[in-house]
Amino acid sequence: MLESLIKIINFNSFGDERGSLVALEADRNIPFPIKRLYYIFDTKTGVSRGFHAHRELKQVAVAVKGSCRFVLDNGTNRESVVLDNPLTGLLIDSFVWREMHEFSEDCVLLVFASAYYDEADYIRNYDDFLLEVK
Ligand code: TYD
Repeated sequence: MLESLIKIINFNSFGDERGSLVALEADRNIPFPIKRLYYIFDTKTGVSRGFHAHRELKQVAVAVKGSCRFVLDNGTNRESVVLDNPLTGLLIDSFVWREMHEFSEDCVLLVFASAYYDEADYIRNYDDFLLEVK
């Protein structure tokens, strides 16, 4: 049985009568030293994003509001998962092609990254990805 590409991290929620709170910590429930956060929001209807892989970067994505569907591809297998819960993180390793589809109108996708933004770390062409991943 092949290991799934979909690596889910379940976050604890400190919930009480006031509501919920999630704490994310580097090298604890986020399994790398966090160097950067970014969030994707106001995604227009029908828009898909991503379509790249990283050579080094690791990321954890969380739909803190709304939902979207991730497609992950390691050059051999392609798997899909819907993120629709602020208690669920998706770990995306290096050399994994990712696409994000079907953003809900209210989706806020928060992403934790292990390095600063570096265009040189991107593989933006799927055929180049297939060559490098082998
Ligand atoms: P892009 O890589 O196209 O986003 P996605 O892969 O999610 O579709 O990034 C959009 C723009 O934002 C692009 O000009 C690069 C810039 N950007 C940064 O400057 N810093 C960042 O951390 C990220 C993720 C993107």
